[in-house]
Amino acid sequence: MKYETNPPDAASLMMSARSFGNYDLPAALADLIDNSIKAGAREIALTCLYREGDPEIRVRDDGHGLSGQELRNAMRPASSNPLAERSPDDLGRFGWGMKSASFSQCARLTVLSHRGGELTGCVWDLADVDAWRMGVLDDDEISALASAELIARDGVEVIWSDCDRLSESQTLTQSEFNALIVHAENRLALVFHRYLGGEVRGKRLTIRLNGRKIEALDPFYRDHEATQQLEAEPLMIGGRTIDIQPFILPHYSKLLPNQYDQLGGEEGFLRNQGFYVYRNHRLIISGTWFRLLRHGELSQLVRVRVDLPNALDHVWKITIDKSDAQLPAALRNRLRQLVEGLRRRSSRVYRSRGGRLDRAGTTSVWSRYARGGEIRYAINREHPVIEALLDVEDDDQRTAVSTALKIIEQAFPVAAFSQDAVREWDGIQQTLTDPVAFRADLIAALPLLLMQVDGDFTALGKLLRITEPWCEAWGATETVLREKGWVDA
Ligand SMILES: Nc1ncnc2c1ncn2[C@@H]1O[C@H](COP(=O)(O)OP(=O)(O)OP(=O)(O)O)[C@@H](O)[C@H]1O
Ligand SMILES: [Mg+2]
Repeated sequence: MKYETNPPDAASLMMSARSFGNYDLPAALADLIDNSIKAGAREIALTCLYREGDPEIRVRDDGHGLSGQELRNAMRPASSNPLAERSPDDLGRFGWGMKSASFSQCARLTVLSHRGGELTGCVWDLADVDAWRMGVLDDDEISALASAELIARDGVEVIWSDCDRLSESQTLTQSEFNALIVHAENRLALVFHRYLGGEVRGKRLTIRLNGRKIEALDPFYRDHEATQQLEAEPLMIGGRTIDIQPFILPHYSKLLPNQYDQLGGEEGFLRNQGFYVYRNHRLIISGTWFRLLRHGELSQLVRVRVDLPNALDHVWKITIDKSDAQLPAALRNRLRQLVEGLRRRSSRVYRSRGGRLDRAGTTSVWSRYARGGEIRYAINREHPVIEALLDVEDDDQRTAVSTALKIIEQAFPVAAFSQDAVREWDGIQQTLTDPVAFRADLIAALPLLLMQVDGDFTALGKLLRITEPWCEAWGATETVLREKGWVDA
């Protein structure tokens, strides 16, 4: 056998690199931030400019920077071997991140570096990479492009231009761009919260986005007194420890609306329950149960922190964009047991707040009657909303309402419900968990409730305090009453 060299075509390979991984804007920025953290940066400045629909995005750090030769190496695709051992604090793995993350968003990547007085700049332009032609900037070009901060001190500044992948449509509007930036800010606040909060290496990382500091977003809300931190469970795999730390978040009735919105995130509590997997303290996956459990209502307060060291990348099959990993088979059973126990504990928090029937001193919506081995559920006719329905002059209308209530009670789907309660407990979604809807429903019911108390605000407050569902989330109810100016309530 003889050997020939058979290199890839530069343009084709670089084009394919645009589709490596599943990057969105925050994931791509996070990959660059990983590099900055590895380079010892304490401050990272993100600048996102709309520029009349031709956006430019910069990531500048104050890390140790790169020499001219190091920058040339770093620009090379697959600049290191994924199998090489990495220092325990290294957030990289593949030698691709800077390139693949950048090309997922833009067609022109410029990297400027300052190390010990030496300024260097290299450019990959996807429109012009034939035969691996890479641009090397001269001093004037660097001075014209670099920010004053980079010229003043060591660090790296990555610039994305020709950002043709920010939007699926041809033209990116200003409001679309703004929405992307807000989304990126929220996501980065979460992904790097342990660095931003000063939990790693005892020093706090600052990330600014267009000048504004990104505040850490702790998905476990450890600052809140009602968050429960359960026993940690260290698991061993491949001779290494994985730390597993479960939390149960506060019930929504203990959160203010803005706290609830922030913790729920863009997709809400239901979707954001589950494992939060960190690799070297950087969040890589959030809100998954790895198919061990469904995203059910009763487990929606459970979030489990999983800490992986980078030495286990191969076991977890970490992807190039660091946004996915697979649960190793050896851990499945142990985690399944853990998750089962957590689900039971979370349901207790949930049920102790929601659907308590006939609690002394409160007016419930449903009443439960148990006599001589027979159990019957009935709608409470004394509940103020039901009472208002029945309290009408017109006999026919009253009979109609009464009949409606009776047929609802009689047709209660007992068989289906009991089957679901046994088999699909997690899937039942009956209680209201969304504070925005809770608030809207209360506001809609207020005129009717006020009539029930002859317009007396003090009496209204007293009534709501003991009436379901408003007494269950008294904080939220009281807020509405205060806003109405019924402070007496
Ligand atoms: N901001 C930076 N400061 C200093 N060095 C950097 C910076 N960004 C990249 N580098 C250097 O460039 C190299 C290549 O970065 P790149 O992100 O492409 O790959 P990686 O970080 O090694 O692995 P991965 O593909 O997993 O991200 C890094 O290993 C690092 O040496
Ligand atoms: Mg990297």
